[in-house]
Amino acid sequence: MAKKRLLIVAHAPSTNTARLRDAVESGANHSDIDGVSVHAMSPFEAGPDDVLAAHAIILGTTENLGYMSGALKDFFDRVYYPCLEETQGTPYALFIRAGHDGTGTRRSVETIVTGLRWRAIQDPLICRGDFQEDFVDQCVELGMTMAAGLEAGVF
Ligand SMILES: Cc1cc2nc3c(=O)[nH]c(=O)nc-3n(C[C@H](O)[C@H](O)[C@H](O)COP(=O)(O)O)c2cc1C
Repeated sequence: MAKKRLLIVAHAPSTNTARLRDAVESGANHSDIDGVSVHAMSPFEAGPDDVLAAHAIILGTTENLGYMSGALKDFFDRVYYPCLEETQGTPYALFIRAGHDGTGTRRSVETIVTGLRWRAIQDPLICRGDFQEDFVDQCVELGMTMAAGLEAGVF
């Protein structure tokens, strides 16, 4: 059977955020999950064709001035209209690296995905405050949950 495609679009401008993105990707690539192909891209690389081909999407961003990163916003600006009619119902998850509270960042992403009518599979993971090693485990878990659910047809 054809593998389902999981797209990860994450802005990772620092060592810590790159670790989180890599953790999500490694969780999604768990050796027990073989029905899913994982495609991790920077928001600047990802475009409408990647979104149209995806069965599920994991979004990642830093908190920048209480909003999503400009990189993720640029991604949405480019994919919004080309994908609006075609991707309604797409399951997605969101992780945020926030030095402060992440609330505005969460709202900024949710406003756009609500417009797209994508479907959250769980509450956003907000890796908040000083960096903790726990964040890495939580990101592995997020990637694994999404990929396992996609493989099992739960979403
Ligand atoms: C324009 C700009 C605005 C930023 N605003 C925030 C912010 O509001 N809160 C925050 O925690 N970090 C802010 N940052 C820092 C980045 O989000 C930072 O790369 C990220 O928090 C990485 O965390 P780390 O220190 O764990 O690597 C900002 C960065 C830029 C370039």
